[in-house]
Amino acid sequence: MGEVNVILPENSYQIDIGKNLDDKVRAYFKGAGFSSRALVVTDSNVGRLYENAVEALLRSAGLAAETYRIPPGERSKCLAEAEKIYTRAIANGLDRKSVICALGGGVVGDLAGFVAATYMRGIPYVQMPTSLLAQVDSSVGGKVAVNHPSGKNLIGAFYQPKRVFIDLAFLSTLPPREICTGLGEIVKYGAIYDEAFFAYLEKNGPAILALESQALEHIVTRSVEIKADVVRQDERENGLRRILNFGHTIGHAIEKETQYVRYNHGEAVAIGMAGAAFISRALGLIDDTIVDRLLHLMETLHLPIKAKGCTADAMYKDIFHDKKTVDGQVNWVLLDALGHVTVRRDVPEEIVRDAMARIIE
Ligand SMILES: NC(=O)c1ccc[n+]([C@@H]2O[C@H](COP(=O)([O-])OP(=O)(O)OC[C@H]3O[C@@H](n4cnc5c(N)ncnc54)[C@H](O)[C@@H]3O)[C@@H](O)[C@H]2O)c1
Ligand SMILES: [Zn+2]
Repeated sequence: MGEVNVILPENSYQIDIGKNLDDKVRAYFKGAGFSSRALVVTDSNVGRLYENAVEALLRSAGLAAETYRIPPGERSKCLAEAEKIYTRAIANGLDRKSVICALGGGVVGDLAGFVAATYMRGIPYVQMPTSLLAQVDSSVGGKVAVNHPSGKNLIGAFYQPKRVFIDLAFLSTLPPREICTGLGEIVKYGAIYDEAFFAYLEKNGPAILALESQALEHIVTRSVEIKADVVRQDERENGLRRILNFGHTIGHAIEKETQYVRYNHGEAVAIGMAGAAFISRALGLIDDTIVDRLLHLMETLHLPIKAKGCTADAMYKDIFHDKKTVDGQVNWVLLDALGHVTVRRDVPEEIVRDAMARIIE
């Protein structure tokens, strides 16, 4: 069983990682000092499978827990859904010391965290991520948000959870394609921060795809450690945290061009990492060996490296509308070694277009 601590100037917290964390969860809620009414937010897929067990667990810790279910999917991450949760929280008598538990993937985590950040100017929340992406990425770091009709995550805050419980047992019911989206982010952590971790992923592809316990525990723990380490150094994304955006500039363009339907987030990021690697090579930052290792690892893990249904022209335009593009300046996160990145703003248009052409099918 693993434990990672996110150390921040204020609001540090602990993350527990392992299988069947019930005893730890119960002990935590018994001693946390929350008032008696708790609200579990989940979606109907996850709720059907796990809400009874989680409600019973919280009740066994002395809380009057009830569950609010949202419809599954990105469209639920909106202000209208947040408002329904506020209404339910008021009706249930949640006060300033009540806790909200986010039981689900990144949609539930971002939305429930946003509600917790704003209800009565902020009440505690605990993350119980159930998708691989939420376990290695969205549940750690305190970015909470809802979408606006004009764009994703435009309305949000930095608001850290009190605690994160990453129970790997949840992954047994996750559809294979949702495993894939998490693996995209996991490859990213190795590529940007830790060559030894990258090499572990290269060696253990079959065990990872088979969700073998040891492999799963290692890749989730190492990913969370890396994310926690980056967030610790730059909680509010003024600098270093940008490196987590590796593969995302082109990835976001691919998601947009394919109407957020053909590729899920991690798949689009995988293709985006291929694009960023081509740019890095064209600038002389890395050689063919590193590009080949990255492409090969993604193929081993069944991640795409080329996009269908996109043109370089459309993608090139999209990158200037990305939320992270400021004053028309794209901060390109590029590899300058395996396990290390550099941020560059001076990438010539023809190099970007050439990289885009290479990742279009
Ligand atoms: N806050 C952050 O730092 C951050 C980082 C990355 C992504 N995100 C956000 O995360 C969201 C994507 O998260 P996601 O990929 O988890 O999507 P998601 O929450 O939609 O979950 C994916 C699907 O898997 C289902 N599911 C989840 N856990 C399950 C389980 N254990 N068993 C069976 N089904 C299960 C869900 O019902 C859903 O249908 C996006 O909105 C993205 O913006 C946030
Ligand atoms: Zn991402």
